[in-house]
Amino acid sequence: MPGPGFEYACNADSLPDGGREVCEVGSELVLIVRIGGQFFCVSDVCTHDGGPLSDGELIDHQIECPRHGARFDLRTGAALCMPATQPTRVHECLLEAGKVYVRLSAL
Ligand code: FES
Repeated sequence: MPGPGFEYACNADSLPDGGREVCEVGSELVLIVRIGGQFFCVSDVCTHDGGPLSDGELIDHQIECPRHGARFDLRTGAALCMPATQPTRVHECLLEAGKVYVRLSAL
């Protein structure tokens, strides 16, 4: 088990490159995306109107909200275009022994 605050999220094998999974970590739903062997984790929440991001189109390191098209950078959480103006939260991901662990960022 990794350091303090990390919780098990999913098995790395369940995500092929470009794959994604929604996991419950603590009391939050987070979206984990695998890109080029790296894992990224953001809250599964669009800051425009609270919609889930998990069914959105993946474009490089960006995910597009399926509701109104806001895009977020999975590395930083930054909102890249309207109608979202606020970032979504990014959470730390750690791969250990084939398992992905997540540490939720502070609210
Ligand atoms: S809820 Fe995501 S762009 Fe509106």
